[in-house]
Amino acid sequence: MDQYFQSYEELDIHQLMLSDKTRVSAYKTAIFNSKEKFWDKIVMDIGAGSGILSIFCAQVGAKKVYAVEASILADSIEQVSIENNMQDKVKVIHSKVEDIRSDSLEKVDIIVSEWMGFYLVHEGMLNSVLFARDNFLHEDGLLFPSIAKLYASPCQLPSMYDFWNNVCGVSMRCIGKKYRKTKSLKPEILLVNQDDILAKGKLLAWLDLKCISLEEIDLLGGQEYVSVCEKDGKFQGMCIWFAVEFPDGSELSTGPYDKATHWEQTIVVLPKDIEVTRDEPVAFKFELKRDVSYPRRYNMELSLLDAEEVEHDVPCGCYLTKCIVTKKYINDLDENESPAEC
Ligand SMILES: C[S@@+](CC[C@H](N)C(=O)[O-])C[C@H]1O[C@@H](n2cnc3c(N)ncnc32)[C@H](O)[C@@H]1O
Ligand SMILES: [Zn+2]
Repeated sequence: MDQYFQSYEELDIHQLMLSDKTRVSAYKTAIFNSKEKFWDKIVMDIGAGSGILSIFCAQVGAKKVYAVEASILADSIEQVSIENNMQDKVKVIHSKVEDIRSDSLEKVDIIVSEWMGFYLVHEGMLNSVLFARDNFLHEDGLLFPSIAKLYASPCQLPSMYDFWNNVCGVSMRCIGKKYRKTKSLKPEILLVNQDDILAKGKLLAWLDLKCISLEEIDLLGGQEYVSVCEKDGKFQGMCIWFAVEFPDGSELSTGPYDKATHWEQTIVVLPKDIEVTRDEPVAFKFELKRDVSYPRRYNMELSLLDAEEVEHDVPCGCYLTKCIVTKKYINDLDENESPAEC
């Protein structure tokens, strides 16, 4: 058995996921808000784990739920279904979804899956959902969730920086420097305080799960972006988070302004901080590229760019003259076009 699936045999991981109320309630709300969509329908729960989402689907009236789980936990789903009196509806398939013969099952009306990893795509489980979409979902079928979005914002990281400046009255800046050097080699998972977020989240990727291709998720981001700082501060890292949307319009968001989840936020730590001021543009290029040797992982690359050289949004709220002039021009146009008061 693949080491990846073995890791999901640890019940601690399932307890962690099931205790993440924001996560579980987001799925429950989306499914229970869509009762009429599930009524009498055939559903596939990809990576059913403990079976929680399969049970929700059965509770709102799905006719049949295929609970597909590759790890040994599949055996427990059977028992959970019996405990909840749903054994007639929940059909457990102990297999990787990729190993199910497409002619062995009827097409399903809805795919439900909790496939998101750190920074959205870590673990590469989205590939399995897209495989199932292409092989088992009716053409007009639904995906829960249906949209995924990835964001980035410059942030301060007091635990990485300020901490070392004064440890009980002792300055340890030299250790702090080394610490950040190691930390900047690979992304950190931690909760960023919303007061330490310096600018609005920049949308790096917007994925429509109904039509996105496998190739399109090999590279996310990759553009040049400009974030405009909303306050004075120290740019010490790039904070990455994601949100997913369900067909009823509800959302599960893992950002610094949202309730904490077990995904926390993913941070690319800068080796040296950069003082920034309100309205200052921070220009950067950011990409997540699938690792060729470990396809369940992505490599992140952040490059800081010269804000004068990069194209800004129109309008842009930054303090560069070109943006102030463009913004004023647009405002004047809007004022001239607004209907005269009578
Ligand atoms: C993030 S957990 C979600 C578990 C459960 N749905 C929940 O919400 O608590 C993902 C689960 O998907 C399973 N899984 C991942 N890829 C799979 C695949 N290709 N086929 C079947 N199961 C898969 C893993 O073993 C794991 O139990
Ligand atoms: Zn600008």
